[in-house]
Amino acid sequence: VTGQLDDTLGRPLRDLRISVTDRCNFRCSYCMPKDVFDKDYPYLPHSALLSFEEITRVARLFVAHGVHKIRLTGGEPLLRKNIETLVAMLAALRTPDGQPLDLTLTTNGSLLARKAQALKAAGLQRVTVSLDGLDDAVFRRMNDVDFPVADVLRGIEAAQAAGLGPIKVNMVVKRGTNEDQILPMVRHFRGTGIVLRFIEYMDVGATNGWRLDEVLPSAQVLEHIRRDMPLVPLQPGTPGETAERWGHAGPDGRHDPQAGEIGLISSVTQAFCGDCNRARLSMEGRLYLCLFASQGHDLRALLRRGASDAELASAIGATWQARSDRYSALRAALPPEAAGAGRRIEMSYIGG
Ligand code: GTP
Ligand code: 5AD
Ligand code: SF4
Ligand code: SF4
Repeated sequence: VTGQLDDTLGRPLRDLRISVTDRCNFRCSYCMPKDVFDKDYPYLPHSALLSFEEITRVARLFVAHGVHKIRLTGGEPLLRKNIETLVAMLAALRTPDGQPLDLTLTTNGSLLARKAQALKAAGLQRVTVSLDGLDDAVFRRMNDVDFPVADVLRGIEAAQAAGLGPIKVNMVVKRGTNEDQILPMVRHFRGTGIVLRFIEYMDVGATNGWRLDEVLPSAQVLEHIRRDMPLVPLQPGTPGETAERWGHAGPDGRHDPQAGEIGLISSVTQAFCGDCNRARLSMEGRLYLCLFASQGHDLRALLRRGASDAELASAIGATWQARSDRYSALRAALPPEAAGAGRRIEMSYIGG
């Protein structure tokens, strides 16, 4: 089976997120809290990870099924040895009508200054960098490994200089932790061509101690920014997009493209499951169809048992066609104390 696939809710498969490692050099409390992810944490051994050849083989089949965007995630993807080699292998893939993929990567930026050139040369198109504040003390506290903000900013500059754009910066907003960084971040990135996006703190995984009262709803983030500077709503870019876009307005009250735009990712207060077209492949070859899934489909077992491309492709197709996930939409209908309950994969395992 190849060609366009729809799930049980009529959603096409468009976007594949590939997590390449479960390790990270940061310990953001909302993702890899130190007391859980300590030196005794059972990270996967190298032999459990899909090889670059295995990843590329699976990715090629997804592309045949309609995927045209691939994002590498982690953990921290730049910690995977020779990641540029994988980038080059994926960059060589073509959609059924001969187009190159939208190939991108989400990183914490810590190794970007060192790697930006090589990633670009390997065929990466753009990067998204996670950055939760500009104040050095706030940032060091949030990454919880005392990593200086200046190094991430240097990484972003290196990515820009290497032509890895348009660059996006993701800021997770936690009420009581970094909301004072919202305006400094907007001012810093206004007019740089970099799109800053605010992410509502989500109940992903089961270790971060998520509480609804630590979520700052996007509506409040927006109101806070608009009290300081004018913003105008923009049309959605692509179907199934995670972020709602707002443009900086010029003196005439209209969007000023030079000043750029920001985005709001509101998976808690305004679920976007209705047109969710994302599949996720874990570093050990499990296929997850929702960020909040508890079960993955083991493609590695098929790969290592010697399955043919046709068998793999029909397993992928059947899995997507049976999909009915819409966790965020269902969570919105639950009483607050019921959200966040249950066993689920960790963000550091599946990469957002
Ligand atoms: P582009 O806009 O094309 O760059 O990609 P993107 O927004 O899909 O990617 P990115 O990794 O930057 O996603 C931003 C964040 O949105 C993720 O880190 C997650 O926190 C969140 N997110 C992305 N996809 C989903 C999804 O399917 N469901 C939910 N609930 N959150 C998501
Ligand atoms: N809620 C919202 N966003 C999160 N991220 C990691 N954990 C969470 C969470 N609990 C973000 C990271 C990064 C992306 C991969 O997901 O900051 O930008
Ligand atoms: Fe690492 Fe990103 Fe998780 Fe922070 S959010 S611990 S940088 S994977
Ligand atoms: Fe897609 Fe699941 Fe996120 Fe909904 S909660 S948008 S179905 S990944």
